Amino acid sequence: MKTTLQLLFAAIILLTSCQKEQIEKTPRLPVKLPVTPYNYSNYNLPDHLRFTMRIRFDTTGENRLSDEKATLGRVLFYDTKLSLSNSTACASCHFQKNGFADPNQFSEGHRGELTTRNSMALSNMGFQNLMFWDARANNLPEQVLMPIENHVEMGMEVREKLPAKLAKIDYYPALFTSAFGDETITPERISTALAQFLSSMVSVRTKFDEGFPDGFSNFSALELNGRELFENKARCNTCHKGQLFNSSWIVTNIGLDKVYADNGAGFGNFKVPSLRNIELTAPYMHDGRFQTLEEVIEHYNSGIQRHPALDWNLRDPQGNPVKLNLDDYEKTALIAFLKTLTDVEFTKDERFSDPF
Ligand code: HEC
Ligand code: HEC
Repeated sequence: MKTTLQLLFAAIILLTSCQKEQIEKTPRLPVKLPVTPYNYSNYNLPDHLRFTMRIRFDTTGENRLSDEKATLGRVLFYDTKLSLSNSTACASCHFQKNGFADPNQFSEGHRGELTTRNSMALSNMGFQNLMFWDARANNLPEQVLMPIENHVEMGMEVREKLPAKLAKIDYYPALFTSAFGDETITPERISTALAQFLSSMVSVRTKFDEGFPDGFSNFSALELNGRELFENKARCNTCHKGQLFNSSWIVTNIGLDKVYADNGAGFGNFKVPSLRNIELTAPYMHDGRFQTLEEVIEHYNSGIQRHPALDWNLRDPQGNPVKLNLDDYEKTALIAFLKTLTDVEFTKDERFSDPF
């Protein structure tokens, strides 16, 4: 009897405490945000990156970097209400665990249609000035509104409809007020907030960056060899340059096909994407044709096709597509080096995670 009573009491206490906890945990808003905003605006760049990683868009006046603006940007990035059918967020095609790329070859838009290109990895975007595979946008604030308006992707008119739609969603007036001082929602403010969030997605916590200051004493022999190949025999760094492993000024043709189905910026020229987090962002290339890094390396090793616009760095002195003649060890070494560019913490960083 005593035990039954005790049990009953225990059950009641458990029940009431559960209920209480539930009430306390039920957020006022569907968005779970920290009471004091996370740090987004101080990028804490290591010394060797301070020169390369400079923000390439306006951060003066109302665009001054702030944690509140990036917080708003985070909510916008994960909010399916930004799409016409309330089904698709930026994050529906850019997954944090995949370095903000999409593991599918093509991504599904707001009406179930597929994109015609492979979704791109997102990191260190604020330091880049060619956006999209065909480099059609020149900076981040300009870029971020384009997927919202894209008919396949999100299909939402940013100027005519989006501000009014957001104004009716209970959490936005407060978020715009803490970011910009008042409730007014404009396309420019949406763009600024998204750009600041994306720009804060700095990814530099890698083996490469740890090793850089002291000449890579943390690298294995294989990784050191890979780095050497990347810069010399394979000359990957003629295009994947500097510490972002990209090109800031050129688009180019790497001879994927004799005749391109998608000509990118024209003549099969495409953006040279950054190779940071490349281990996480398969499939590869503008059309996601390669599933693995092995396939990518084999392309550069033996698969380059003759094309009138083929980059000169990929031709031999006679003008034919180069063959690198890498042996198996060298291919493995190159891939080992590429994997030193992986930032696992980035894929788990709360600041960039889904707040809904
Ligand atoms: C339906 C899938 C989809 C959605 C939704 C989507 N994207 Fe993308 N994103 C892509 C694809 C595909 C590309 C490459 C498109 C191209 O090059 O034409 C891309 C490219 C980008 C790039 C260029 C990256 C680079 O390195 O040049 C950025 C930045 C970006 N998206 C941000 C966003 C933001 C911000 C949103 C939400 C406002 C968003 N995306 C919504 C699929 C999507
Ligand atoms: C002539 C310039 C050039 C050289 C040299 C070059 N690349 Fe690329 N790389 C590009 C371009 C441009 C793309 C995108 C092409 C496309 O999608 O059509 C690319 C794409 C890639 C991708 C896929 C990126 C993604 O996000 O899908 C990887 C991985 C890559 N390159 C690695 C390498 C390696 C390793 C080497 C050296 C063996 C190398 N590249 C040499 C220009 C170059």
